[in-house]
Amino acid sequence: MTDRKLIDVAMEAMFNSYSPYSRFKVGAAIECEDGEVFAGCNIENAAYGATMCAEAVAIASAVSGGKRDFKRIAVISEGGDYCYPCGNCRQLLNEFSPELEVLAARSDGRYVSYPLSALLPMAFGKEIL
Ligand code: THU
Repeated sequence: MTDRKLIDVAMEAMFNSYSPYSRFKVGAAIECEDGEVFAGCNIENAAYGATMCAEAVAIASAVSGGKRDFKRIAVISEGGDYCYPCGNCRQLLNEFSPELEVLAARSDGRYVSYPLSALLPMAFGKEIL
């Protein structure tokens, strides 16, 4: 799948975002090693701390579908800036695929790409335990 198509899948999920509190819609699409793609959007809650990030929802969906090896993730928001995964989501991604490529997109479709290891250097991972 092309980067563009993965971003499109993330954008489609973004439109389903439930974000009445922040009004900041986020979508994510994670591509597994075998090519399958799982999407997620942010899901907020009246108890704000119960909010789920789009990336977390996408990972949860993929892992629930039996996948644990990921190649790329695309993240997009409605904002004008590139949407990078938050620190907690970087950690969630690192658990499964420290070599992941992260596409951070903005609403006009432009994007930048970084290895997860650049966004989460000296990560705490399972190899330490
Ligand atoms: N959000 C995400 O979905 N992913 C991130 O990586 C950053 C933040 C969501 C959570 C909340 O619903 C909204 O963006 C504002 O923080």
